[in-house]
Amino acid sequence: MEGAAMNGADVVYLNGEYLPAGEAKVSVLDRGFLFGDGIYEVIPVYGGRLFRLEAHLLRMDQSLSGIRLANPLTHRGWEAILTELVARNGGGDMALYLQVTRGVSPREHAFPPDAIPTVFVMTQPLNPQADATLQAGVKAITVEDIRWKHCHIKAITLLPNVLLQQQAAESGAAEAILVRNGEITEGTASNVFIVTRGHVVTPPRGRLLLPGITRDLVVELCTEAGIPCSESKVALSALRRADEVWLTSSNKEVVPVTHVDGLPVGSGRPGPVWEQVFGLYRAYKEAFRRGEVH
Ligand code: PDD
Repeated sequence: MEGAAMNGADVVYLNGEYLPAGEAKVSVLDRGFLFGDGIYEVIPVYGGRLFRLEAHLLRMDQSLSGIRLANPLTHRGWEAILTELVARNGGGDMALYLQVTRGVSPREHAFPPDAIPTVFVMTQPLNPQADATLQAGVKAITVEDIRWKHCHIKAITLLPNVLLQQQAAESGAAEAILVRNGEITEGTASNVFIVTRGHVVTPPRGRLLLPGITRDLVVELCTEAGIPCSESKVALSALRRADEVWLTSSNKEVVPVTHVDGLPVGSGRPGPVWEQVFGLYRAYKEAFRRGEVH
């Protein structure tokens, strides 16, 4: 069912056990609950296959090292759990949500010396954008990036993202594009691309944005197809003048933005470069589903 919430009978993984979501319980002293002291990943699954798994696991390593928490599992250990959970939930298409927190301990800010990390994985429905949404494009607003300076860490501490995404929703927009010192960083839950006279640009990696796995794939696909593409700073003024604006994420894929702050982007319709790149993305995904690419 499209948009279905996770149901209590879905199987989740928690600290070594597979159990129905409704029975999975975490202590109120978990540092994820008390401090937001943890990290997460979202991995799409197509036809039962884990999309760009190694890239997601490497990013997880970087997030863990960013919060100085040792990975409680090896990559192969993660793969075994994720594969098993997908199978127990019937395979097919879904998203895996993985979370690691610093574990359960009395509430003291500094790291507990011997807490055992909490490891949680659930599946969620993957809802690709409806054709009508893709044909019309979506609206975005621009807002000040009020987050911290370690946005390359996929931390579960998402309050600024939540507040800014809510502001977007209340303005009838699908996403808030974040601006720091006059430059675009990313969306609250997506990366941002612009196209100007056929040239695709996305802000560079660094501490101010998450290195999106979808972003990297879009850069790869553009490069392979000979579409000019660079990773360089994007001023808010460049976003306002752009012919096209796109958002990318594991669950949104590549979405055209046709209005920013109530003004049309280019023609106000999804642009030709988006159409080409979206076609390449979908073709890549289908080849992956068939086991032709890894
Ligand atoms: N978010 N930037 C931010 C702040 C994000 O939260 C996300 C994804 C991205 C895109 O990354 P990727 O292409 O690897 O999904 C960029 C996930 C999907 C989420 O929070 O649910």
